[in-house]
Amino acid sequence: THQWRGVIEEYRDLLDLPAGMPAVTLREGGTPLVHSEWLSGLTGGEVWLKVEGDNPTGSFKDRGMTAAISHARHLGAKAVVCASTGNTSASMAAYAAKAGLKPLVLIPEGKIAAGKLAQAVVHGAQVIMVRGNFDDCLSMAIGLSKGYAVELVNSVNPVRLQGQKTASFEIVDFLGDAPDVHLLPVGNAGNISAYWLGYQQYADLGRATRRPRMLGFQAEGAAPLVTGEPFPDPETKATAIRVGNPASWHLAEQAAKESDGGFAALSDAQILAAQLELARNDGVFVEPASAAGVAGLLAALASGQVFTGATVAITVTGHGLKDTATALESCGDIVDTVVDADVAAAAAAAGLA
Ligand code: F0G
Repeated sequence: THQWRGVIEEYRDLLDLPAGMPAVTLREGGTPLVHSEWLSGLTGGEVWLKVEGDNPTGSFKDRGMTAAISHARHLGAKAVVCASTGNTSASMAAYAAKAGLKPLVLIPEGKIAAGKLAQAVVHGAQVIMVRGNFDDCLSMAIGLSKGYAVELVNSVNPVRLQGQKTASFEIVDFLGDAPDVHLLPVGNAGNISAYWLGYQQYADLGRATRRPRMLGFQAEGAAPLVTGEPFPDPETKATAIRVGNPASWHLAEQAAKESDGGFAALSDAQILAAQLELARNDGVFVEPASAAGVAGLLAALASGQVFTGATVAITVTGHGLKDTATALESCGDIVDTVVDADVAAAAAAAGLA
């Protein structure tokens, strides 16, 4: 019987990594592409959700992290560092533990979801909270890696994108061709850049006949790719994409331009509403930022864009359990119904009687 081997072994000949580099893997990738009856019905197209919350640490970051940590160990590093809004740090901590490297995490004080912080701590990372935002943390991580014996694993490290582009491969392998449109959230802009790399590579190899339009979605309070200007003080409840000056700005713009795609901004209310609707219509619970692609599709439909007959892929980037506090805020007051241990009482409370 065959177990999925993780993205490096499954796609090694397509990844620009040192030949023979041993893989540090938690069997990331191979995530489900779930058909959305809800969104297919609304659009008149075929809408597929790439559910990246099903990765080992609950987000797409594991695809890039298997590559970055394998590479760091291959180079002989003893310690690794990242800046993070939460998911990168959770992933780095897990893979560093597996590799026997010391993980050092820089996060914006008070602005990361509880689940992500727990992951970093439980996997043994040293967590340094910074009085500043993600962009400040990233500058510091770069500075630390330049001045000290610690390897940087943020997506400014190109090895990360090599791992992350495998999500495009999986989508094409499953659908038989590339989708017409691909929607996803954008923060530091590594993921949209990686997807575009993957789609281009498959088209160049003749494994896909087309390349999708890449549509990236940001939160209104952190939308530099939409306005064309950095946000010195980014703010959004979708803390994962609370990034004001994305490192892969140029690559992401190139992906949008070359694919005839683009960027749009969404309010926190739109993002949180999409999160709840996705959970209630499709049974897929994602974290707030991860719903930005779904919110983007709903906004595009509302503005009159047409997807009839199109194959649409949406990456939902991280698991809902990462940030239950924000999710529950959308559910209004939770009134607990408490009854005696009695069938009739439960039936009455549930309105069955
Ligand atoms: N969705 C989630 C759940 C994320 O954690 C991130 C990024 C993104 C989308 C955006 O991806 O940065 O490649 O454009 N999180 C980073 C982190 C910033 O530190 O975990 P991107």
